[in-house]
Amino acid sequence: MKTLAQMADHVLRTPDGRTKTAISREYAATWQAARAAGETPEIGSASPPDMPARPDAPALLDPRDVPRRKPGTPEGRIAILHAVAHIELNAVDLHWDLIARFTDTEFPIGFYDDWVKAADEESKHFNLLCDCLEAHGSHYGALPAHAGMWRAAQDTADDLMGRLAVVPMVLEARGLDVTPGMIKIFQQAKDRQTIDALNVIYAEEVHHVAYGSKWFHYLCGRDALDPTSTFHTLVRKYFHAKLRPPFNEEKRAEAGIPPDFYWPLSEDT
Ligand SMILES: [Fe+2]
Ligand SMILES: [Fe+2]
Repeated sequence: MKTLAQMADHVLRTPDGRTKTAISREYAATWQAARAAGETPEIGSASPPDMPARPDAPALLDPRDVPRRKPGTPEGRIAILHAVAHIELNAVDLHWDLIARFTDTEFPIGFYDDWVKAADEESKHFNLLCDCLEAHGSHYGALPAHAGMWRAAQDTADDLMGRLAVVPMVLEARGLDVTPGMIKIFQQAKDRQTIDALNVIYAEEVHHVAYGSKWFHYLCGRDALDPTSTFHTLVRKYFHAKLRPPFNEEKRAEAGIPPDFYWPLSEDT
């Protein structure tokens, strides 16, 4: 059996989205079966690529050059689905990268259980959105996508606490803020399949943010660091914008992100 780091590295080096998520789900199932049988599989180590392998399409553009479309039109809704599918594919790689890149830091095995589960769920999310795109006669790769998605990973490639602060606790928490509005758009269009997919995503993303908060606090506790001020310092260092309200206070609280973590970093302060 491959070590967990080798599995992660293989996912990261697989370009095609559907193939990447299939391999990702298969490895997650392998890991979870071993854990359910009471085993502690080897974590090992790997040299994950600076950038994960990606398919030839979509073309990756500077965010300013990605055309904007009105959400009230079928084309606009396809553009939203495409953008979210792109985010999910990046999220698959982000979680496996977190597993593969920081194996020098010792963690209880639960750290890996959490991120394998998160990576598995992101793989499911990407597939659900691809299914929605295909139901509308489109597909992932049909439109250009954001080039900047891997920036946060590159900026925090040597800083595990920075990675946890920026990726699950800022970027994925932002997903909790914006998803209800997105669900409304598809409710107005009476698009049942997409509403169902987004509801699955919304429910599961709370856990990814919670895993971020849990392991961030774990590391703070191990080094006797103040979590709030450490979080502020790291987000200011690695995240190059202010956080944008309105915040989903309810879901953020559920995920273990208290208001004094994000309000001091927001545009309104
Ligand atoms: Fe997701
Ligand atoms: Fe996520």
